Amino acid sequence: MAVVLAFLCIFVLSINARGGGVTAARLQTHLSANLLANGLGQTPPMGWNSWNHFNCHIEEKLIMETADAMVSTGLAAIGYEYINLDDCWAQLHRDSQGNLLPNASTFPSGIKALANYVHDKGLKLGIYSDAGTRTCKGTMPGSLGHEEQDAKTFASWGIDYLKYDNCNNHGISPKKRYPKMSEALLNSGRAIFFSLCEWGQEDPATWAAGIGNSWRTTSDIKDNWKSMTSRADENDKWASYAGPGGWNDPDMLEVGNGAMKTEEYRAHFSIWALAKAPLLIGCDIRAMNNVTFELLSNKEVIAVNQDKLGVQGKKVKKDGDLEVWAGPLSDGKIAVVLWNRGPTEATVTAYWSDIGLESATVVSARDLWEHSTQASMKGQLSTNLKPHACRMYVLTPQ
Ligand SMILES: *[C@@H]1O[C@H](CO)[C@@H](O)[C@H](O)[C@H]1NC(C)=O
Ligand SMILES: *[C@@H]1O[C@H](CO)[C@@H](O)[C@H](O)[C@H]1NC(C)=O
Repeated sequence: MAVVLAFLCIFVLSINARGGGVTAARLQTHLSANLLANGLGQTPPMGWNSWNHFNCHIEEKLIMETADAMVSTGLAAIGYEYINLDDCWAQLHRDSQGNLLPNASTFPSGIKALANYVHDKGLKLGIYSDAGTRTCKGTMPGSLGHEEQDAKTFASWGIDYLKYDNCNNHGISPKKRYPKMSEALLNSGRAIFFSLCEWGQEDPATWAAGIGNSWRTTSDIKDNWKSMTSRADENDKWASYAGPGGWNDPDMLEVGNGAMKTEEYRAHFSIWALAKAPLLIGCDIRAMNNVTFELLSNKEVIAVNQDKLGVQGKKVKKDGDLEVWAGPLSDGKIAVVLWNRGPTEATVTAYWSDIGLESATVVSARDLWEHSTQASMKGQLSTNLKPHACRMYVLTPQ
């Protein structure tokens, strides 16, 4: 029995090694840290997903053009790598062998061809399925009861990321449904980022670290201030559970979709970055304007999100509508967001004690949106902010 088990372990390790360059040593590290054994998500994933802008209206031409735009705009070069299909890519029925099929009119070349196209651009392809009998919007087949078969299908197509939704689940606990797909993906022969989307239903932060690379902590975001801020707050509760390999997910970005003001989108992007959330763009990057591009391409803000320490920044102070969010970065630096969530202009102040600095510490403060540095700051950081506006800094002790 022990020999059989040992053989099985080696077998699984070698499959994973072939699929995604995961070494046995690295795998061991993750197992001991109770993280998903695919080695992915060492920093939060960055990319694009079709849902927030295109909803059910997707087809292969759009996906290819999005991959083209990811490269031509320069977004790929600064770290955005996943091109993720959401619901509505599949045919309504499985084939006679029970395999999922792409919709033949909208994805006539098939998903494998699409993956090849995306991979040739140096990008990765993500797909969507559901931990139930039918998907949410497209009512295409779900993967409940077909986990092994569907994971193998995704691997054979060259899929790199799976978003796994929660509709039509027959009241079965996500703690039963999501581990099955996690296992199936690990056995599929390919390293596939696993994104749990059970909407925070059973507090996945407390149990999903060994199962997925990210887990939604909230229901779906909408393109408005109230929705965005409440997702930020709900996600914040679970900050201590996030880390390299497993991230809290307050849902995808609405930046550039048009219903929030520029300062609101700036706050959205700043807080998502600070909270180590997946940075999945949700607008039409083929047609984004300068302002949207400026927000999404801020390398200094992205560097906070991708910092190797991987500690989720959180809300550390709240005085009515005036908030301070902060978190540690590698090399003793600290990221800080000063945020005025109120309807009138106001001054927001972070005292060193609010953000975990000794009172005598002298820092330089880099303003990540103004791209300017103030040297020799002592005791506090303070700024005047328009309604809903924020400023984001990295403090470096001198
Ligand atoms: C394929 O997609 C089109 C356009 O959304 C839709 O009208 C059609 O019903 C789909 N076909 C199948 C077989 O799922
Ligand atoms: C966008 O930015 C470019 C380069 O800075 C500039 O030339 C162009 O006028 C801008 N367009 C708009 C619509 O702001």
